[in-house]
Amino acid sequence: MSSTPDPLSWIDEALADLERRGLRRQQVVRRGAQSASISMDGRALINFGSNDYLGLAADERLAAAARAAAEREGWGSGASPLVSGRGESHAELEKRLAEFEGTEAALVFPSGFAANAGVIPALVDDGDAVFADAKNHASLIDGCRLAKAKRFVYPHCDWDALEALVREAGDFRRRLIVTDTLFSMDGDLAPVARLAELAEQYDAMLLVDEAHATGVFGPNGRGVCECHELTNATAPGSARGQIRCGTRTPGRAGGCRPNGDIYPECLIRIGTLSKALGSGGGFVCGSRRLIDWLANRARTYVFSTAQPPATSAAAIAALEIVKKEPQRRELLLARAAELRNRLREQGWNTGNSASQIIPLIVGEPARTMNLAASLRDAGFFVPGIRPPTVPEGESLLRISLCYHHTPEMMDALVAALGRFR
Ligand SMILES: Cc1ncc(COP(=O)(O)O)c(C=O)c1O
Repeated sequence: MSSTPDPLSWIDEALADLERRGLRRQQVVRRGAQSASISMDGRALINFGSNDYLGLAADERLAAAARAAAEREGWGSGASPLVSGRGESHAELEKRLAEFEGTEAALVFPSGFAANAGVIPALVDDGDAVFADAKNHASLIDGCRLAKAKRFVYPHCDWDALEALVREAGDFRRRLIVTDTLFSMDGDLAPVARLAELAEQYDAMLLVDEAHATGVFGPNGRGVCECHELTNATAPGSARGQIRCGTRTPGRAGGCRPNGDIYPECLIRIGTLSKALGSGGGFVCGSRRLIDWLANRARTYVFSTAQPPATSAAAIAALEIVKKEPQRRELLLARAAELRNRLREQGWNTGNSASQIIPLIVGEPARTMNLAASLRDAGFFVPGIRPPTVPEGESLLRISLCYHHTPEMMDALVAALGRFR
């Protein structure tokens, strides 16, 4: 008698294969809120593994705003934003985001992943070309895959290689360059000013994902583009549909032309509300016509329930804090620079990190996970990152700093890491 067929039996083998290669992941349970400390699987640890960079995820002001919105508007949104899901808090958040970013308009998505997965296919299609940095986040990669455009992947931050590709792509109907501004695993920065120049020169659109930079980089916390004085100058009263690129562009990471140059409209900025802003959701900001188009055509906006009103209200409270408390981002980046130097002095390879994300590049997945386990035994949560999140041979410990880390916590981490060199 033949045994009953099991159409899911392949999963056992596939999981065993992950296990053999040191790539099987486990779900963990956090207890309570997380900040500079975290309770995981029953243990209290110093937390160097969260994206809550400004320490807002457990801030009482966000919780109070969320409670008030939930009482006013209910907990769930009940429908997609184009049906009946877009409540007052959503509309207010979009208005505040546009003000914060200095753009005409903004559109809020249920998550940053959804923003990337929806926006890219709404911008390029069959007959178009999309150019993606090799180290882009999975959500950008998937957005590019969902678009029917021809895909070109350029080596990480290599604008010469990108230029060669874009130059050859004149026959495509539209061209779109897609990049993280602050790379989520390596903590390094994209040469956004140079990319904007290329986009202008070759009549391409430029989509930048500021997920890890929103709230942290730039004089007003708008992100890496703001450090380069590169913003959509589409706020009311400014030259419509143009990008200005200023002079504060450092060295090779810049290449920006002298102050006063005006770039044609091509910049599409994406951010998340889930990391430094301590809430949830993603957003895109830009010109009114861009946002109108995306509200009509980005499928993850049109066909997904709007985020809970409480989440929007918490994000509004976070934007206020980012405006009023610049010391949070200033202290964070100053501490990150100090920690990076100390770890480099110990002989760790921190790559090209220039941010609050500091990788310790180890190489092999098994060694990386052993180090993460040893750190955990010593009282620290520092996640080990393996393929496919990073390329083969580049497994790393990802240290992310938050505003609430004290000098004593950093000293303790440096001392523990010193024991593993
Ligand atoms: C660069 C980048 N973009 C987008 C996302 C997705 O954002 P969210 O977590 O809000 O879905 C992430 C998440 O880690 C990210 O690192």
